[in-house]
Amino acid sequence: MLEKMNEFFNRRVIGYEEHQLTTIDGAQEFYRYTASCLPVQDHAQVLDLGCGTGLELGFYFESNPTAQVTGIDLAEDMLEVLKQKFPEKSLTAICGSYFDIPFGEKCYDAVVSVESLHHFTKEEKIFLYQKAYQALKPGGYMILTDYFAQTEEQEYFYRQGLARLKSEQGISDNEFYHYDTPLTKAHEIEAFRESGFPAVELLAEWSATAVIKAVK
Ligand SMILES: C[S@@+](CC[C@H](N)C(=O)[O-])C[C@H]1O[C@@H](n2cnc3c(N)ncnc32)[C@H](O)[C@@H]1O
Repeated sequence: MLEKMNEFFNRRVIGYEEHQLTTIDGAQEFYRYTASCLPVQDHAQVLDLGCGTGLELGFYFESNPTAQVTGIDLAEDMLEVLKQKFPEKSLTAICGSYFDIPFGEKCYDAVVSVESLHHFTKEEKIFLYQKAYQALKPGGYMILTDYFAQTEEQEYFYRQGLARLKSEQGISDNEFYHYDTPLTKAHEIEAFRESGFPAVELLAEWSATAVIKAVK
């Protein structure tokens, strides 16, 4: 049965981090790597889309303890863990959808998202990446670490799978349900370019996970 996105993660918050680090190929390395791509200057302003319990932020705060981070997530229980983990840090946790929450304009040095955006279509991502672009300061950048389809056929197969399950389960609302529908890396890069990012680069890969940097 499909579960609503926030309920899916709220139900799995206990043991979430261990599961994430031990079941995804490369996770022992790509969280630290992602953090190493984020700005090092004091008080850097960073927005994390789908921050969850803050796995990437733990590594980031180690290298930049004065970073000022805003994290957005739909799952309130994931955010509770996040807040308990970093009581001393400059961290604003916002419960809601990053599609709905305004990001502001030219206020972040970097936007980061790890393992959260593989649930959305290219069109939804273009809307989101345009918001991210506007929220970045000149020269700012977005780091996306996520899981990708290996072929266009695979991307289509996942998208059809979600449509079939929604139809079978009589789901007709526009709420977010947890079901992986990753794009190919080529389509992801197109989404960044079509959102206005002039420079988009593949930085690293671990099995199905890749890190993409899009500079404003
Ligand atoms: C697999 S977790 C990743 C969390 C963290 N970034 C990490 O890598 O450990 C995906 C997170 O994205 C959040 N999420 C999914 N869709 C969202 C949306 N539309 N707005 C905000 N958060 C969302 C989920 O609630 C969940 O906490």
